[in-house]
Amino acid sequence: MYYFIEPMAEEDIPHVQAIESQSFTTPWSANTYRREIRNTQSCRYVVARASAAPPAPSPAAPAAAPRRAGILSQLVEVLFPQPELPTSARPIVGYGGLWLTVDDAHITTIAVEPAQRGKGIGELILSALIDHAYELGARQITLEVRVSNTSAQRLYLKYGFQPAGTRTRYYTDNGEDALIMWTDPIDTPVYRSRLSELRRQLFARLQQQA
Ligand SMILES: CC(C)(COP(=O)(O)OP(=O)(O)OC[C@H]1O[C@@H](n2cnc3c(N)ncnc32)[C@H](O)[C@@H]1OP(=O)(O)O)[C@@H](O)C(=O)NCCC(=O)NCCS
Repeated sequence: MYYFIEPMAEEDIPHVQAIESQSFTTPWSANTYRREIRNTQSCRYVVARASAAPPAPSPAAPAAAPRRAGILSQLVEVLFPQPELPTSARPIVGYGGLWLTVDDAHITTIAVEPAQRGKGIGELILSALIDHAYELGARQITLEVRVSNTSAQRLYLKYGFQPAGTRTRYYTDNGEDALIMWTDPIDTPVYRSRLSELRRQLFARLQQQA
């Protein structure tokens, strides 16, 4: 199976909500997703799609270079170029998003379809979000995660997020505390080099699985 990262489109929302309902207890409305997707100034939302089709030839690089070009989009394009298939043949298997607040990015959501977990898709989505944060000019990235959600915490730790406090009774469904996590600055040579190495390993894993 090949995995692709694409910007989330409005027609993707029902598919995203289907994964969300299996992943979270307090779902967002379709309107909330629409508002986020339309706010291209400070939001980025992506979906991961799966396809059994082998890679197709990659098109030329995009004409307009972003302010700070991340490397993931090019790498994903090179390693997993989007095949010319209808979206029904490339189902959505995960999604994620972030906001830019001043010069920090805040990951608002990330989830993978339960049957597809443990294959590197969450990592691919997080990696894409880090790239988007970089392109938007964010200096650091933060998020909240349930204190009991150790699998997500491990994913974040792997990508350089560190615990930085808690928000008491942050989750309204069960009153659970949130662990606040922050990266170090993402534009330093140290962080960029760590990210490159993680991506090298991730793409090797995804290529092997494909
Ligand atoms: C968190 C989530 C997005 C991870 O997605 P995934 O595709 O299963 O994760 P990956 O296969 O990419 O794993 C990447 C890393 O995450 C961590 N991880 C993922 N699943 C794990 C598990 N069951 N136990 C421990 N660590 C786990 C590991 O560090 C793993 O790296 P490794 O394979 O080198 O050990 C997914 O479990 C999910 O959708 N959970 C429900 C929604 C959620 O909790 N979102 C986070 C909200 S803050």
